[in-house]
Amino acid sequence: MDAMSDPLAPDRALLERWLAVAGEAVIAHVERAATARADGVVGHDAWWRAAALSRPITEAPAASIEDAMATLEAASELALNTIGPGYLAYVPGGGLFASALGSFVGAAYNRFTGMAAAAPGFARLEADVLAWLAAEVGYDDRGAAGLFTSGGSMANFSAVVTARHDRLGDDGDLRAATVYASREAHRSVAKAARLAGIPPHNVREVAVDAAFRMRPDALSAAIDADLAAGRRPFLVVANAGSTNTGAIDPMGALAAVCATHGAWLHVDGAYGGAFVLCDEGRAKLAGLDRADSITLDPHKGLFLPYGLGCLLVRDGARLRAAHSEDAAYLQDLAAAGEAVPSPADHGSELSREYRGVKLWLPLMLHGAGAFRAALAEKLTLARRFRDGLRDLPLEVAVEPELTVVAFRCALRAGEPPGARNRRTQALLDAVNAAGHALMSSTLLDAADGPALTIRCCVLSYRTHAEHIDQALADVRAAVGAA
Ligand SMILES: Cc1ncc(COP(=O)(O)O)c(C=O)c1O
Repeated sequence: MDAMSDPLAPDRALLERWLAVAGEAVIAHVERAATARADGVVGHDAWWRAAALSRPITEAPAASIEDAMATLEAASELALNTIGPGYLAYVPGGGLFASALGSFVGAAYNRFTGMAAAAPGFARLEADVLAWLAAEVGYDDRGAAGLFTSGGSMANFSAVVTARHDRLGDDGDLRAATVYASREAHRSVAKAARLAGIPPHNVREVAVDAAFRMRPDALSAAIDADLAAGRRPFLVVANAGSTNTGAIDPMGALAAVCATHGAWLHVDGAYGGAFVLCDEGRAKLAGLDRADSITLDPHKGLFLPYGLGCLLVRDGARLRAAHSEDAAYLQDLAAAGEAVPSPADHGSELSREYRGVKLWLPLMLHGAGAFRAALAEKLTLARRFRDGLRDLPLEVAVEPELTVVAFRCALRAGEPPGARNRRTQALLDAVNAAGHALMSSTLLDAADGPALTIRCCVLSYRTHAEHIDQALADVRAAVGAA
């Protein structure tokens, strides 16, 4: 156990040892992850092993830093290998080390950043990153504002709250308020609406086209029907990269429908919005700047560790109007004025971790260019994977727009219902069992009904051509064996 004269304030020598031991353990872990199996250790066996790690919380110190790190290391092994280059499941991120370092520094400095006046320096740096993101999505010079959140779900929630406040006011009739999203929208959208007081049956599922993009004509028809029934359509949520297939809804056309009906357009770019940083992605995301608000999720598209989402609002005054509250016990800070806005006025939190540093430090240490290049590379890699499937008895659900390649076994003539899905599941299991790549599955409408479909999502900064080629070799071997 580590001896401390003041139990909660270790001396410098001990702090240095803690840092050295933790730093060494973390670097070794990160190095190992690059070559470790992609599927990690989860499932029943992992639960048993997790139970064995459990230890009582005692009154006196229970572990040295070496013991504690050994436990954390053992616990971290019981998990999907989310930071490895073969992690192609769900929506990868990668976990940039510089960002983890930023989190550590921000927490160790522990300035109060809920109100900008309490830490003008930190507030300025965070505002710089938000302004940079706003300019990247095309919001420059238009009074945009933003908020760093814990992730995309919370950004979508604050967007719904902002739209509700802006379009319905504080006394609007929520029973009449209707929201529109395609069936490909992330579940956080319906959840955000429910949390914001919108009855779940007022969230409309708008039809999609063959490429899983929301159909503007179907949106118009749904809005017209609701208006005729005396309801108040106030919010449309579009995808800039759907979770299932990376579909990009036609944002310009949807913006026009919204303008006609006075509805707020929110774009959920949690998975795909960051591609606006590279030329190819920016072209694909045309119309993004027409949105009233945009969710980005740097812990996906900018490769950061989990814990950083972002909401950008084109007219920042509306974000503030929806969230700002005064309190006498904060009057000293309010009196100090603010050259940049307070996060507390843009979201639901007061005290908060200093989130901006998680992106600011990587931007400082790597430069924005490294992010643009990595995102462009991911688009190329997804195409490489898709092209590698061409000569196999597989079908892609849709040509990839961004970096999700959704594929399944091709239907055989006369195959009974369910048989194709079983073959696709066996294919996925075999690919994952090889240990180089981890992919996940979803259900997508196909000619024979809901079809189990494999998702290969390329988004980790560690994934390069050799990993895609290995994944293709595993798919080929698994198809051959099937
Ligand atoms: C399109 C989309 N929106 C929202 C979310 C939710 O983001 P988070 O997990 O950061 O809350 C996700 C997560 O995958 C997503 O893909």
